[in-house]
Amino acid sequence: MKRSLIFIFLLTILLGCARLTEVQKLPVVPFPSNVETTEGSFLLNAQTQIAYHFENKEEGRIANYLGEKLRASTGFPFQFVNIEDTKGNCISFNHIKDEQLGKEGYELTINPNNVMIEANGDAGFFYGVQTLLQILPPEIFSPTKVNGVNWSLPCLHIRDYPKYKWRGMHFDVVRHFFPKEFIKTYLDILAMHKINVFHWHLTDDQGWRIEIKKYPKLTSVGAWRVDREYQDWTHRDPPKPGEKAAYGGYYTQEDIKEIVEYAKERFITIVPEIEMPAHSLAALASYPQFSCTGGPFNVAVGSYWPITNIFCAGNDSTFIFLQNVLDEVIKLFPGRYIHVGGDEANKTEWEKCPKCQARIKSEHLKDEAELQSYFMKRIEKYLISKGKKLIGWDEILEGGLAPEATVMSWRGMNGGIEAARSGHDVVMTPTDYCYFDYYQGDPETEPPAIGGNLPLKKVYSFEPIPEDSLTEEQYKHILGGQANLWTEYVPTPSHAEYMLLPRLAALAEDVWTPSELKNYKSFLFRVNELVKKYETLGWNYCKTNLDD
Ligand code: ACM
Ligand code: ZN
Repeated sequence: MKRSLIFIFLLTILLGCARLTEVQKLPVVPFPSNVETTEGSFLLNAQTQIAYHFENKEEGRIANYLGEKLRASTGFPFQFVNIEDTKGNCISFNHIKDEQLGKEGYELTINPNNVMIEANGDAGFFYGVQTLLQILPPEIFSPTKVNGVNWSLPCLHIRDYPKYKWRGMHFDVVRHFFPKEFIKTYLDILAMHKINVFHWHLTDDQGWRIEIKKYPKLTSVGAWRVDREYQDWTHRDPPKPGEKAAYGGYYTQEDIKEIVEYAKERFITIVPEIEMPAHSLAALASYPQFSCTGGPFNVAVGSYWPITNIFCAGNDSTFIFLQNVLDEVIKLFPGRYIHVGGDEANKTEWEKCPKCQARIKSEHLKDEAELQSYFMKRIEKYLISKGKKLIGWDEILEGGLAPEATVMSWRGMNGGIEAARSGHDVVMTPTDYCYFDYYQGDPETEPPAIGGNLPLKKVYSFEPIPEDSLTEEQYKHILGGQANLWTEYVPTPSHAEYMLLPRLAALAEDVWTPSELKNYKSFLFRVNELVKKYETLGWNYCKTNLDD
């Protein structure tokens, strides 16, 4: 027994010290599911062409995307050529049928004469292109021409497809508002990491950030709060009577359409979040008649807790209002999922409200937890009638889950496990591994954050499926994983990038790369290459964890 322990100990040390192989040093994040290196290299030059079947629109679209990127940094023309007319020295796209690769998988073959990307469709081509770009020197990401670079690619064969179908990243644009142009940058960042879901937290106590034409006060009132940016988030003076609400902003429906299109071009589905029944003070400041007390309210200037004013569940007009809001949201976002929050609902007002209590009686509910369940079930029924799926934070389990709801498990993994066991789909996003508002190093030397401790290595250790806790059938309900960036302490785009990068690289590998290929030493090596690309792109990032 003792001897075997010593053996394991020595083996661990030996493996830890083992030099990385050339494959493990391939500068691609997330690491592909299968890589074989071969002899030689391919050099991009002024004669290199981009080849595809001219009749295939999907190939053409991605060929165009690649061409734009390559031309900008290399200055070479990269002319398009129909695939039948190629004579080598080209990057070609080839549509194939390969069930295992699925919608998002691809094969990338680099040999001395040409480069080939093969996929079932355009998402696969897009990810093949992302991988190809990462293998090139970091200067390839420059938006302007860079001279004197050897644009060389090592010969290899990659066969790659993702581990999970939900690879999500969230962003809170309420606690601080971020302009449309930065949302596009955020989507560019996600695309580079092969993240395919953008969870957009659009409404909360401190602001309402999406134009709803039927209810203009949601943005004329709800998008603005009294400016307390100079005070700590949790110790802000309440608004004074008549004080102007000067901090905020919102996205017009035209902005949203533009962003949805931008995301689509990057194979990212946006999941909009409209919070209910709680985290709704900005909506209630605009339309206090949908609260239990009737108000009046101010849009919250900071985080005082608890905030007890939430949507009244006893008032049918609340549901009409929410359905009308959702109608406009549904029209804007083509994805299947609508996130309706559901977290941290303080039920104090429901306990006192005659309408809420009457609802509990008439619906034969046991308590306020079941009233929240009634709320969610009613909203889910509406969403289903519109062809959408409801997703909510794990509190929606309390009082009984809506029949087809998907659960986003944030208070650890147990909510997700419980939901999967009862046959519901789950996205895992436990605070301990996935909350990018936490510190990533010593609070003494890091910029102020909300608390917690989530260094790069810990993000890298995240596995969305808890070992041995689910049967094969239940396991299929885990759609994937996601990280969240709440922005109480994140006031600017540059700071958002700092909190996101490079932790997003670790998350990307958690949800894309087969677990048996994950290797922190290899990841660190590759992340140090990746940050050179961030620099070329002008993206800020945290350097704290890059040495060990
Ligand atoms: C949450 O962090 N309240 C979902
Ligand atoms: Zn009420």
